[in-house]
Amino acid sequence: MPLQPSLDAASARSALLAVENVAVTYSNRSGSHEVCSDVTLSVGRGEALAVIGESGSGKSVTVLAVTGLLGAGGTITQGSIRFDGEDITRLDDRERRRRGLRGRRIGMIFQNPSRALDPVFTIGQQLNEALRQTDRFSQPELRRKGTDWLRHVGLPDPEEALDRYPHQLSGGQRQRVMIAIALASEPDLLIADEPTTALDVTIQAQVLGLIRRLQRELGLALVIVTHDFGVVAAMADRVAVMYAGQVVETGTVDEIIRAPRHPYTRALMASLPTGIPGTRVTALPGSVPSARSMPSGCRFHPRCPVAVPACSVTRPVLDSLSESRAMRCLLEEAPAS
Ligand SMILES: Nc1ncnc2c1ncn2[C@@H]1O[C@H](COP(=O)(O)OP(=O)(O)OP(=O)(O)O)[C@@H](O)[C@H]1O
Ligand SMILES: [Mg+2]
Repeated sequence: MPLQPSLDAASARSALLAVENVAVTYSNRSGSHEVCSDVTLSVGRGEALAVIGESGSGKSVTVLAVTGLLGAGGTITQGSIRFDGEDITRLDDRERRRRGLRGRRIGMIFQNPSRALDPVFTIGQQLNEALRQTDRFSQPELRRKGTDWLRHVGLPDPEEALDRYPHQLSGGQRQRVMIAIALASEPDLLIADEPTTALDVTIQAQVLGLIRRLQRELGLALVIVTHDFGVVAAMADRVAVMYAGQVVETGTVDEIIRAPRHPYTRALMASLPTGIPGTRVTALPGSVPSARSMPSGCRFHPRCPVAVPACSVTRPVLDSLSESRAMRCLLEEAPAS
């Protein structure tokens, strides 16, 4: 039984970022496909939200919709995205830059740092551009602040690194530079889409620790996209679990990790790496359905160990279970699988 809307108007207004019932469609020569449907999530000021789900569940598309970087053929066809009280759902690139939504107020760390850094400018020049968004600094001030940021992210020889080009740094160093650039413009919200996948395992932990530390110190809101419950536990206050282009469960990290309720969250927790060696248990059978062949009723029902006949007919909505928790499942008290 629906109890109440999952994100009431008051909490959507007070959240720094509120994504409500967003649908995203990609159109190309082979047709139109709705790859995200009814995505609802919110992030408060200073809060860290992890978005987790299998490959293809719509995590990247969701954050690209927020940053207005869906690319060719991608459109938000339903719902709204509000940032700091303003509707930013349909702003074009120019308007986003004018409002500081590219860097100054919303920072983004991409999965692949070599694509995000410009190969023809030095690290210092790229940092300066971020720093200039916050204040008018003199050249010596820019150099000092740039060095400080590189030191902050643990880059060796920070002063020398200012004069280097991206290709002269290692992958891990480039990732640190990208974090420094994203943070130097002092955004209110940092979005990190699997920021460490390209790095060695040992560096991954360092970089994640760094993002979490700086997020807390600077009081930024953080949206971190991940496949890994270990990352969720270490990095986030709240979590949104995505499946087949929808949010299926949200709650505090404690609630979700201690007592996952949605059958998908349970299956995911049992199948994904936790960051603790040897804890990968069973692989979740089957795969995320594509936008071309979405199942009827609940999108998870063909893979769900506890599905009942109604699940193949009725589409569940994201119901609030408590102030902090919501779930999209017809079985209000999903039996243990
Ligand atoms: N530019 C695009 N054009 C068409 N379809 C796209 C495009 N980008 C993503 N999609 C589709 O949208 C769906 C969600 O993709 P998305 O990249 O958001 O998944 P994800 O959850 O980030 O997966 P991963 O964990 O592998 O990064 C997929 O079915 C994908 O094929
Ligand atoms: Mg992705």
